[in-house]
Amino acid sequence: MSLSDRIRAKQSTVPALLEPFAAPAAASGPRAGSAPTAHATRTDAAAGATAGAGSSNTGQTARPDDGGASRPAVRPGSLTARHAAPPEATPTSDALAKVKDRAANALFDRVGARLSDPTLSEDQLHALVRSELNQVVEEEKLPLTGEERKRLTREVKDDILGLGPLQRLLDDERVTEIMVNGPDLVYVEQDGKLTRSPARFTSEEHLRRIIERIVSKVGRRIDDSSPLVDARLADGSRVNAVIPPLAFSGSSLTIRKFAKDPFLVDDLIRFGTMSPDMAVLLRACVEARLNIVVSGGTGTGKTTLLNVLSSFIPEGERIVTIEDAVELQLQQEHVVQLESRPPNTEGKGEVTIRDLVRNSLRMRPDRIVVGEVRGGESLDMLQAMNTGHDGSLSTVHANSPRDAVARLETLVLMAGMDLPLRAIREQVASAVDVIVQLTRLRDGTRRVTAITEVHGLEGDKVTLQDAFVFDYGAGVDAVTGKFLGATVATGMRPRFTDRFADLGIALPPHIFATPALGRASR
Ligand SMILES: Nc1ncnc2c1ncn2[C@@H]1O[C@H](COP(=O)(O)OP(=O)(O)O)[C@@H](O)[C@H]1O
Ligand SMILES: [Mg+2]
Repeated sequence: MSLSDRIRAKQSTVPALLEPFAAPAAASGPRAGSAPTAHATRTDAAAGATAGAGSSNTGQTARPDDGGASRPAVRPGSLTARHAAPPEATPTSDALAKVKDRAANALFDRVGARLSDPTLSEDQLHALVRSELNQVVEEEKLPLTGEERKRLTREVKDDILGLGPLQRLLDDERVTEIMVNGPDLVYVEQDGKLTRSPARFTSEEHLRRIIERIVSKVGRRIDDSSPLVDARLADGSRVNAVIPPLAFSGSSLTIRKFAKDPFLVDDLIRFGTMSPDMAVLLRACVEARLNIVVSGGTGTGKTTLLNVLSSFIPEGERIVTIEDAVELQLQQEHVVQLESRPPNTEGKGEVTIRDLVRNSLRMRPDRIVVGEVRGGESLDMLQAMNTGHDGSLSTVHANSPRDAVARLETLVLMAGMDLPLRAIREQVASAVDVIVQLTRLRDGTRRVTAITEVHGLEGDKVTLQDAFVFDYGAGVDAVTGKFLGATVATGMRPRFTDRFADLGIALPPHIFATPALGRASR
């Protein structure tokens, strides 16, 4: 059984465990008889707990950008409700925590070092933990009934072999990100909102062990000599861990869960991220092999949009994708996905995005899709775009199309080629055809706020022409705080549309028409 299967199998046993343990501390009623009720209460508590900050989230459906998507598993949209009040720790969980903590600590002392021993099989590990734990419970002389003792054993074992307090969050499909700031502070992004979760670790030690378990499962190590780890889990989720002293207030862990079911173009239209017209235009751009750069800040949806744009690449073309950690999920068959690699613990074996971009040119690609350019690889990518690998797609971290151009220039400098600025601008201007700007607006929605054509070089300035821009002038709804405007055509027909005609790609003529002026109250 794989780790995740094992964890999932175990998961089902966890919820029933907390309440009965609390019984001795909270009340002296007949324990066995109280079990069914306790179980029911516990289920409610679990529902509240997984919903993030308890009651603030239960019952009401949080809405992502789409204004209440019909999709069952709600995906994140905005980070509007920040830092909801932390849930109160219940006395029951405190009582449980104490008992469990003692047993868990004693067990860690005995078997801690062997937990990430790769030579132990699953069965051996389980057997080892079981027998050691039995001894611990024996020695600690815990005042437990037979049933309780069995449960304690099971739960501590789960905690030790599974991912402890994180497990439930990992299994909850609505949780898309998990952020741990030291043992007592766990935040989750769920339904698009960031809230504090009631989950906590018993100590920094406990947290460290869970982190070690996570990273060692993917063949990495975290310790004084390499206190930062960025890794991908077997299920595609991304994990970043930083331990003290780099992390000042306790180990930090960030998990971005892999979206099992990525957004499609229709989702983005439904969310209002782009209009159907814009989707038609972008599809035509991809089919016409324009080089497109998606620009936006962190978490604005660049990768998501890149995935959608990639879905427009016609079946049959050979696609090479290059990423730091695989996030793109292409539906086409003829795809090679490449992933960069950090250096190993001896500082060797690094394979950078740049190495992969260069290598990809020898792989006879029809399209190169680079997850994000953030260094010298941008020079190689621009050169590829300029030398016959047109139709390539990438993203860059920038706040406007103009900023994206400046950013690409800076990144090219990082290639260390000592190119004159004008030469760099020529590269950018002739390589990039379209910049698609994404913005997370103040109201929490993610929007395509510009579709901009890169015209060329005038003097030593890269000239840009917006085909679509967001209408901020329409203002904000006084009640809901939502922007009233939309991204609208500027009335300028991009020059690249000439290519569409040659290729027989027909666009409805109204696409570039400005909507009736005055529709928005300026
Ligand atoms: N248009 C959108 N509307 C709502 N949520 C989105 C949208 N695009 C992306 N998301 C969500 O936002 C988060 C960040 O998206 P991602 O594409 O990884 O952003 P970036 O690559 O810019 O960091 C993900 O959880 C994703 O599901
Ligand atoms: Mg991204």
